[in-house]
Amino acid sequence: MTYHPDPARYDRMTYRRCGATGLHLPAVSLGLWHNFGEDTPHETKRAICRTAFDHGITHFDLANNYGPPPGSAETAFGEILRTDLAGYRDELVISSKAGYRMWDGPYGEWGSRKYLISSCDASLKRMGLDYVDIFYSHRFDPDTPLEETMGALDHIVRSGRALYVGISSYNSDRTRQAAKILKQLGTPCVIHQPSYNILNRWVERDGLKGTLADLGIGSIAFTPLAQGMLTKKYLGGIPQGSRATQGKSLREGMITESAIASIRKLNAIAESRGQTLAQMAIAWVLRDGGITTALIGASKPEQVTDCAGAVGNLSFTAEELAQIDAVAQEEDINLWARSSEEV
Ligand SMILES: NC(=O)c1ccc[n+]([C@@H]2O[C@H](COP(=O)([O-])OP(=O)(O)OC[C@H]3O[C@@H](n4cnc5c(N)ncnc54)[C@H](OP(=O)(O)O)[C@@H]3O)[C@@H](O)[C@H]2O)c1
Repeated sequence: MTYHPDPARYDRMTYRRCGATGLHLPAVSLGLWHNFGEDTPHETKRAICRTAFDHGITHFDLANNYGPPPGSAETAFGEILRTDLAGYRDELVISSKAGYRMWDGPYGEWGSRKYLISSCDASLKRMGLDYVDIFYSHRFDPDTPLEETMGALDHIVRSGRALYVGISSYNSDRTRQAAKILKQLGTPCVIHQPSYNILNRWVERDGLKGTLADLGIGSIAFTPLAQGMLTKKYLGGIPQGSRATQGKSLREGMITESAIASIRKLNAIAESRGQTLAQMAIAWVLRDGGITTALIGASKPEQVTDCAGAVGNLSFTAEELAQIDAVAQEEDINLWARSSEEV
C-alpha cells in the first residue's frame, strides 16, 4: 500500500538546533541498532519507520555493523527508503558510522582512513544513497593518529559522501582535539553521540556537555531509555521477547534488584507528571538544552508513538529533578565506557 505521511507531522514534533550549526534535529530521533536485522520481520521495520516519520521524526541513525548480520539494518532501511520514503529524501537526516568490527582483517574496524572511507562507500551502497547527512567515527581509536581519522571524515565530506561529520563516545579531551583538527581542515564537527540516561551519567562526570557548548557542537544521546530499562517493561520481571531475553547488548544481569527499585520510584515520579516513564526519561536527557536530541530504539511502532509524546512536557521543576536524583543511582550499564575513558 502506498504510504502517505501524516500531513500534521511537523506540528507534532519539536526541532532543536544542533549546536551552533544550521542543522535542526527532532527532539526525538530513531536508531536502527536493534530490531532492523534479519531476525525481525520487514513489515515491523517498515511500520516503525513510517510511524516515526508520521510523528515528525526526521532523523534516522544507522551504522555499518547494525543487524544481525552486520550491514542488514542498512539494507533494510535502503528498502524502506525505496518503497516508502523515496519522495522525502530532502526531509530526512540519515546518519551512518564506522568504528566497530565490520569485516575480517586489519582494515575492518577502528579509525584508519582505509577503513572509514571503504566502509562509508559500502554503507551508501547498502542504503542505495548518494550521500548520508552525517557520517561518524563510531569510537575513539587509541592506535591511529587522530589527524588520520579526522582527515578521513574531512575527505568523506569533500568527496560528497556526507554533508556533516560527527564523533561518538569520545571524551572531552579527545573531542576538543578532534574538533580542532576538523576546524583546521575546514570541516567542522557538527555532532557528538554519547550514551546518556538517568542511570548512566558519564557525560556529566566528564564535563562533555560544557565542552560541546563551548565548541558549538550539537549532541545526540543514545540509549536514553537505558536499552528499555527506563520503561515499565521490566517492573514485573523480564517479559518474553524483550531485549533482555535476546542474548544481545542488554544482559539480564544488568537488570539488578537495585535498578528495579530505582525504576519503580522513577515510574511513580513519571506518573505524577502525567507522563509514561519512557517519556520522562527522554525529557530528562533533554532537560537543560545540553543535548540536542534523544536517540531512541524501538521494537514496535507503539513504542515510537509513546516516545515521540515526550515532547509534550520537556520541563522539570527543581523539586522533580531532586526527587529523580534521590531515587536513581548510576548503574553499571555503560557498555561504551572503554571508548570514552581511553586516554
Ligand atoms: N554510537 C554508539 O556507539 C551507539 C551505541 C548504541 C546505540 N546507539 C544508537 O542509539 C539508538 C538507540 O539505542 P537503544 O535502542 O539501546 O535505545 P533505548 O531507547 O534506550 O532502548 C530502546 C529499547 O527500549 C524499549 N522501548 C523503547 N520505547 C519503549 C516504550 N515506549 N515502552 C516500552 N519499551 C520501550 C524497546 O525494547 P524491547 O526491544 O525490549 O521492546 C527498545 O528496543 C540505536 O538504535 C543506535 O542508533 C549508538
